[in-house]
Amino acid sequence: MQDNLTWWRGGVIYQIYPRSFLDSRGDGIGDLRGITEKLDYVASLNVDGVWLSPFFTSPMLDFGYDVSDYRDVDPMFGTLEDFKVLLAKAHSLGLKVMIDQVISHTSEQHPWFKESRQDRTNAKADWFVWADPKPDGTPPNNWLSIFGGPAWTFDSRRQQYYLHNFLTSQPDVNFHNPDARQAQLDNMRFWLDLGVDGFRLDTVNFYFHDAELRDNPPVPKGESKTLGAPETNPYTWQRHVYDISRPENVAFLKDLRALMDEYPGTTTVGEIGDDNPLERMAEYTAGGDKLHMAYTFDLLNKPRSASYIRQVIERFQRLAGDAWPCWATSNHDVERSASRWGAEEDPIAYPKVMLAMLFSLRGSVCLYQGEELGLPEADVPFERIQDPYGKVLWPEFKGRDGCRTPMPWTDGTQAGFSSIEPWLPVETRHLDVAVSRQQENPDSTLNSVRRMLAFRYAHPALFDGELNVVDVGEELLGFIREKGDEKVLCVFNLTGNEQQTALPANVTSDLEGHGFNAARKDNVLTLPAYQAAFMHIG
Ligand code: GLC
Repeated sequence: MQDNLTWWRGGVIYQIYPRSFLDSRGDGIGDLRGITEKLDYVASLNVDGVWLSPFFTSPMLDFGYDVSDYRDVDPMFGTLEDFKVLLAKAHSLGLKVMIDQVISHTSEQHPWFKESRQDRTNAKADWFVWADPKPDGTPPNNWLSIFGGPAWTFDSRRQQYYLHNFLTSQPDVNFHNPDARQAQLDNMRFWLDLGVDGFRLDTVNFYFHDAELRDNPPVPKGESKTLGAPETNPYTWQRHVYDISRPENVAFLKDLRALMDEYPGTTTVGEIGDDNPLERMAEYTAGGDKLHMAYTFDLLNKPRSASYIRQVIERFQRLAGDAWPCWATSNHDVERSASRWGAEEDPIAYPKVMLAMLFSLRGSVCLYQGEELGLPEADVPFERIQDPYGKVLWPEFKGRDGCRTPMPWTDGTQAGFSSIEPWLPVETRHLDVAVSRQQENPDSTLNSVRRMLAFRYAHPALFDGELNVVDVGEELLGFIREKGDEKVLCVFNLTGNEQQTALPANVTSDLEGHGFNAARKDNVLTLPAYQAAFMHIG
């Protein structure tokens, strides 16, 4: 592993969705004590740390991404004391702890918004984005909410509209106001003082909006739509020029970095949903004075062929310089990769090679709970749907509940997650691939992930080296990772057919310890279905 200051560079961060990890109290909802109980398991995966999705005080209309007190734990998840215990246990296991910071918007229940909406003259009057209606009473401009409808809701007291990029109950903080910005940085300092190792920054390119409130232009016919929202969502029909990714954000990210730098060894990973996500990721993570890392929806999207992935990598490489990506193929917002990418594939073999590919890219990695088990997306019937986003766009888009169902620990009652019926149903297909079933089988996806991560750490080129894509034919994905004297050629067969290729470089030895099979005769490589090869080259 790496030193304590740069652990995040090439680190693998295991994302925990607290509601669905482990219910220690028997109320059907996961909690902090449940997470603490399972940290040994997390450490056994050979990951570097965890990212905890929000556990702060919240009315839970967006399941914690609507915060009403940034400095406390919601009683549903436990207490601040429980968090301190979690942190100490994680650190004793050598795991870093990153927490989610949702500073772009608050809950409408947050005291700042309660005050702000009272009238136009209170102390927080300008802390949110308020604007007068057009003369005909309609919203100030054409901006849309990702979760449906206009991005503006009228408030009768102020006789004004307020901005929200998500639910109407998630008012957007006005980052043009210096006091509001500072207050959010102070909230972050609270957690740094408690000893957290970093933040996942929700919607990091949404902090600022155009102060002139100009209309967004439509996406020209035939041009590609915004990543990060389903195509059935009209939000993707606009070019998001004025509502997000404003130039002022860069200066704020520098202030945020200055705060982080007061706490050596801490880090940030920003979430970027944008019209030009890779450009934004490069812009925000280059130079060592803004974010440490960011992730985009490029690999959280539908396309998945070797040539698509190659194109994403090459595009980022062209822009990158010293920018540092964090790649993710699953998380709490998208259909699980085993289904999204692997629906037509072998459900056991495919996730292993897909994850091996993910772990070999240049950058850090977010690994979503259950991804190490190769879990398919759960089928959640309409009557059980919780996600407000799913309710709005049903049935074309069923929302995000299918990737948020309980973690299957055993094949017993409620998958060992809870003693009662959980908030989202356990997916029956998950029982066959529960942790207890995979644990003892050396060939399981779970043990393949453990092996692959140990292999990654044994080869510095794999976690911290440069990357150059090589041509190994249309069906395969190949690249060279290089650090110091070590050069590793990596080739992946993500298809269900055997593939053969002439190798583009001189192989000096085949590497072992990763668990995949390949046959090499001089410079010709034969990769059976869903296999990978790793070789030292001269
Ligand atoms: C981010 C979160 C998502 C949430 C949204 C609004 O995209 O990942 O879960 O709904 O922001 O906060």
